[in-house]
Amino acid sequence: MNFELTEEQLAVQAAARDFAQNELLPGVIERDEEQKFPAEQIKKMGELGFMGMMVDPKYNGGGMDSVSYVLAMEEISKVDASCSVAMSVNNSLVCWGLEKYGSEEQKQKYLTKLATGEIIGAFCLSEPEAGSDATSQRTTAEDKGDYYLLNGTKNWITNGNSAGVYIVIAQTDPEKKHKGINALIVEKGMDGFVVGKKENKLGIRGSDTHSLMFTDVKVPKENRIGEDGFGFKFAMSTLNGGRIGIASQALGIASGAYELALKYSQERKAFGKPISEHQAIQFKLAEMATQIEAARLLCLNAASLKDQGKDYVKAAAMAKVFASKVAMDVTVEAVQVHGGYGYVKEYHVERLMRDAKITQIYEGTSEIQKIVIARELLKN
Ligand code: CAA
Repeated sequence: MNFELTEEQLAVQAAARDFAQNELLPGVIERDEEQKFPAEQIKKMGELGFMGMMVDPKYNGGGMDSVSYVLAMEEISKVDASCSVAMSVNNSLVCWGLEKYGSEEQKQKYLTKLATGEIIGAFCLSEPEAGSDATSQRTTAEDKGDYYLLNGTKNWITNGNSAGVYIVIAQTDPEKKHKGINALIVEKGMDGFVVGKKENKLGIRGSDTHSLMFTDVKVPKENRIGEDGFGFKFAMSTLNGGRIGIASQALGIASGAYELALKYSQERKAFGKPISEHQAIQFKLAEMATQIEAARLLCLNAASLKDQGKDYVKAAAMAKVFASKVAMDVTVEAVQVHGGYGYVKEYHVERLMRDAKITQIYEGTSEIQKIVIARELLKN
């Protein structure tokens, strides 16, 4: 068992850290307050190769492994989780799904642009009445011969307004249940496709989360991903990898809050000495650091299994459920270490605490992760 990172992985980690500290930190508080989508920052992330990290270079990707992706996600999420969710959806759900299951034409037409961040992608599964229960899709994709007629509403879509390409999961044949679902590539600007209201959220406020409406949108047949009826399997399979991305985001939120708490505890004095010299604070720091280390190992384990071509379904769900709990626990403690300063915006930890909560909800709630884990445990 070798826990050493390669030189290449260390270089990716350092590049992501520099970028996050130099380019994302300035303005992060204002973007959160104003709910401003980090368009310029995402563009730079694309130029640096962070938007299509694992895509084959022949489709303009970085050709990197999933371990490098975890390392980059952690560094970027330490500073700006609104950027890292756009990065995670684009890399894990959209680019990975297209590269793994898309046709050569789809890859040439869409993946080559998504991998550079020239356009970004959205993954549209959730509906007003189908979040966790993903087979209950109400959005319909009626087979009309050489096109599908798409009708319905999607909710809570990350990159909802900023994306250029949307992978939409829809029901074609309700009698076939999950085997009658398709995944379609929808372009912004197609007739009948309207971006709906933006959500005013507790956290990740820079990320643009929208509802989407489809009314008689004609989606050409060549925009279907995989065989007829493959859409549900496509969604489940991409979400497995997506969970590694969100687990790494949770890890980054936690480690960002911990680093701030550690630094603050060495600067802030109370009762005649830095608060880091009080055992009450030392216990907190030790607990936070231990939880983070465990979460990091779970994230890296899931990524490493994926890189080796091994089954990573259980490992990804374990990483997500654990790291997102750690993100909540550690950010609450980081605010506590900061005392009153933790409760105001300038010290960043209150934002990280708000951002942490979504990691227990999206790409499968913690309860869904436990269902996934239990099913894997009970499989044989
Ligand atoms: N990996 C691969 N295939 C899977 C799978 C997985 N993790 N889970 C299920 N499948 C396959 C099954 O093998 C089965 O295929 P067969 O018929 O060929 O055997 C098929 O999918 C149906 O499986 P189930 O009958 O087990 O499905 P289910 O209805 O019981 O649901 C579930 C299983 C795990 C609860 C699933 O619905 C699920 O994961 N729900 C959560 C969805 C989710 O994560 N939503 C979040 C939206 S995306 C998002 O948040 C993105 C963002 O913007 C940040």
